Amino acid sequence: MASSSFSFFQILSATTTLLLLLEAHQASSCFSAIFSFGDSLQDTGNFAHTFFNTALSNPPYGTTYFHKGTGRYCDGRIILDFIAESLGLPFVPPFLAGGDFSKGANFAFGGAVAVKSDPNWNHTLPDQIEWFQKFVQTDPLFRGAKTFVVPGNLPIGCIPAWLGQYRSDKPSDYDKNGCLIWMNNFSEYHSSNLQTELDRLKGQFPTVTIAYADYLNSGIRMFSNQAQFGITVPFTACCGGNGYPCNATGPVCPNPLNYASWEGFHPTEATHHAISDGIIRGPYAIPFLSQKC
Ligand SMILES: *[C@@H]1O[C@H](CO)[C@@H](O)[C@H](O)[C@H]1NC(C)=O
Ligand SMILES: *[C@@H]1O[C@H](CO)[C@@H](O)[C@H](O)[C@H]1NC(C)=O
Ligand SMILES: *[C@@H]1O[C@H](CO)[C@@H](O)[C@H](O)[C@H]1NC(C)=O
Repeated sequence: MASSSFSFFQILSATTTLLLLLEAHQASSCFSAIFSFGDSLQDTGNFAHTFFNTALSNPPYGTTYFHKGTGRYCDGRIILDFIAESLGLPFVPPFLAGGDFSKGANFAFGGAVAVKSDPNWNHTLPDQIEWFQKFVQTDPLFRGAKTFVVPGNLPIGCIPAWLGQYRSDKPSDYDKNGCLIWMNNFSEYHSSNLQTELDRLKGQFPTVTIAYADYLNSGIRMFSNQAQFGITVPFTACCGGNGYPCNATGPVCPNPLNYASWEGFHPTEATHHAISDGIIRGPYAIPFLSQKC
């Protein structure tokens, strides 16, 4: 249910993702905790904990790395996991599942949108911020956070679901990689507006570090250099597809590491890895993302 019911708008809300990195000490450059907000691209188990026993909680989800379903919309690790690894921090645990949040918590929830337009949907970005604020009140230690990472959009014109839905007979609608140009343009439009807004916020809060994470160009880099990243099947879902959902009985590809898309909507671990590599090591590096304590 989780992925096949995703609407275009919800995928676009991938842009609501936000990372908040907590600095261990004022003077040091390393981080002691990560707090994360967002939707299915960043969810590490909140949706699965709330609506338990969906396909997300079971294999083949998670099989590439965790060998079990964790509630990630992926066969393995997501960008957030690779960032946590790079900072020497544990994977960010889902807040709604409870536990030890001394090194961070993930408030991201599959299907979350940025604006609370439906009063019955309790997992929007404003809701997540509210959970975080309540959590922070219980511990004065958490007042030191002043580094934010805000990702732009993915190249949505390379996502199989939309390539199918907006299929065109005109070769000129596609770029050299086979992605829909107008749709990637839309990601570009969003990302450039986001950056303008981030620049405004930087001016307004000069003591806060706000970094833009270029998922868009890092993603396009992968589609332009597929062999380098081991991708041989860019536009076919690894799990499900052809009318089948991605679940324990649906078809699954033998090697997800060669696929860019997990179930037609969300990236595989291979894609998450390639994109995170671009923002951790370059060419779109945010230097502090590779600093361990
Ligand atoms: C949303 O939250 C309200 C208040 O806590 C609750 O009554 C309602 O059932 C929730 N809705 C959903 C869909 O979880
Ligand atoms: C994509 O954006 C470029 C530059 O902004 C523009 O020249 C081009 O017409 C756009 N193409 C489509 C198909 O929207
Ligand atoms: C997988 O999805 C199919 C089609 O929706 C359904 O019939 C089947 O029960 C599902 N299997 C599992 C294990 O969820």
